[in-house]
Amino acid sequence: MMNIFDLTGKTAIVTGGTTGLGRGIALALANAGADIVIVDIVDDDETKERIAAMGNKVMRIQTDLSKYENIQDVVSKTIAEFGKVDILFNNAGIIRRTPAVDFSERDWDDVMNINSKTVFFLSQAVARDMMKRNYGKIINTASLLSFSGGITVPSYAASKGAVAQITKALANEWAKYGLNINAIAPGYMITNNTAPLRKDPERTDSITERIPAGRWGNPEDIQGAAIFLASAASDYVNGHVLVVDGGWMAR
Ligand SMILES: NC(=O)c1ccc[n+]([C@@H]2O[C@H](COP(=O)([O-])OP(=O)(O)OC[C@H]3O[C@@H](n4cnc5c(N)ncnc54)[C@H](O)[C@@H]3O)[C@@H](O)[C@H]2O)c1
Repeated sequence: MMNIFDLTGKTAIVTGGTTGLGRGIALALANAGADIVIVDIVDDDETKERIAAMGNKVMRIQTDLSKYENIQDVVSKTIAEFGKVDILFNNAGIIRRTPAVDFSERDWDDVMNINSKTVFFLSQAVARDMMKRNYGKIINTASLLSFSGGITVPSYAASKGAVAQITKALANEWAKYGLNINAIAPGYMITNNTAPLRKDPERTDSITERIPAGRWGNPEDIQGAAIFLASAASDYVNGHVLVVDGGWMAR
């Protein structure tokens, strides 16, 4: 039987791939055979070097994806180097924590730009290439706050709610062109994003107690879902938000 999870010959763009969940995703897709383009604002080669050591083709583009004018450049550079884009993993994202009553316009705009506006316009830019070949996988990074409102993170909750809706809206328009648009909603994962939360022992314990699996997730915990949604295994899955949360949403 052919391996329906095999990504050999595919080109995948992973945004925010230098650390955290993005690094886990980039390594997983590379392990399944894909060539990888890491796009990140941070200048760090560790993920790239680990993928190169696996024998896959890999490129890193350092850019600020929250700026609309940088988006097309990422797609043009990828096509110039790899010939096509088969998979886009919209993973880059930020969070700002301040009570809503004091929340600034800057914290609203910065978070909305990278977490949701860029997800839409980078998807649009790659879809124009994918549609030529009637093939493409776009996976967005949603959150538990795509479903609930969170505490002191209003722009993050708004942006991740938008990610879930963008996922469905694009699936509705583009499934007929052979594109699958889905999202992963990670639960509480151990990355830079949650470092401030984990500095508060009471908050950490109250979160852990609510997770049926009894522990926070790691970047490795998201790898199976990432390969599934990037591969032929999910060809008839459209507009789905897949929670990978140790059971949090089941409670
Ligand atoms: N950690 C969690 O518990 C958790 C839960 C749900 C969703 N998420 C989401 O997962 C995704 C990955 O987050 P993480 O937890 O690995 O956090 P992280 O902070 O470790 O990684 C985020 C990555 O995005 C990059 N990035 C940020 N702004 C950028 C920009 N303007 N241009 C290019 N790259 C940029 C960062 O440099 C970094 O590499 C985010 O979308 C986050 O919201 C995380």
